[in-house]
Amino acid sequence: MSALPRHVGIIMDGNGRWAQLRGQPRLEGHRIGAESVRDITRAARELGLEAITLYAFSAQNWARPADEVRGLMDLLRDYLHDERSEIMDNQIRLHAIGDLDRLPASVKQPLDALRQDSAGNRGMVLTLALSYGGRESLAAAAAALARDVAAGKLDPRTIDADRFGAYLPTAELPPVDLLIRTSGEQRISNFLLWELAYAELMFVDVMWPDFRRNHLYQCLEQFAGRERRFGLTGAQVAGSDSDVEAGDA
Ligand code: IPE
Ligand code: IPE
Ligand code: MG
Repeated sequence: MSALPRHVGIIMDGNGRWAQLRGQPRLEGHRIGAESVRDITRAARELGLEAITLYAFSAQNWARPADEVRGLMDLLRDYLHDERSEIMDNQIRLHAIGDLDRLPASVKQPLDALRQDSAGNRGMVLTLALSYGGRESLAAAAAALARDVAAGKLDPRTIDADRFGAYLPTAELPPVDLLIRTSGEQRISNFLLWELAYAELMFVDVMWPDFRRNHLYQCLEQFAGRERRFGLTGAQVAGSDSDVEAGDA
């Protein structure tokens, strides 16, 4: 494939509806959804993507019923345990963004351990967005920036988009090229608000537990067929060929 995205973000949505459609408890959808995470991560690694970022639990998801939150935390704990060797064997670096201090110790501890142990891996960065909100992330970056200005470490006249972006927890990742949301909903739900600035958006009518590598391949194929203009004209993007045409006319 010629034009692979460097960084793919995924809003993994539809677990609850997937289960309810089958007359099963919502948690069963989350459980099968974890299998999709494994398959998609493996496929992304095999394709050679630089980074994938998975929206696993939002800042707003804490307001769900307590037993669903508990069930999700148990699944996360199990995931971190079960995926350790897969992550280490495949040179994947685990990264996490969000208000991680809100996570229970049963998740926070294995998460910190695996982040540390995989820090030297150079294959692909797998970022889990946990207890994450895009607005919260931007506010935290603004607060850190303000502290540096107050401490005299940063001249406010030098603040531009690049400098601001350096305060975000995604600073070392490439910009998101492709955003996929499953379940048919067409919204961002407070995911990477800054980082999605020029992402191609894809809304897929498949519930997350059914989303497997073939769906990812289809998305990548569509991505390769899109023209990204970044504010330029189509002719500019097409490059010298079109310039020649324009000159001939
Ligand atoms: C996504 O599936 C997983 C999380 C938000 C944790 P949902 O649980 O939102 O499933 P639906 O959207 O209710 O079907
Ligand atoms: C977004 O899904 C969060 C995750 C996938 C983790 P939600 O199901 O929470 O989003 P809304 O409520 O449909 O906007
Ligand atoms: Mg949902």
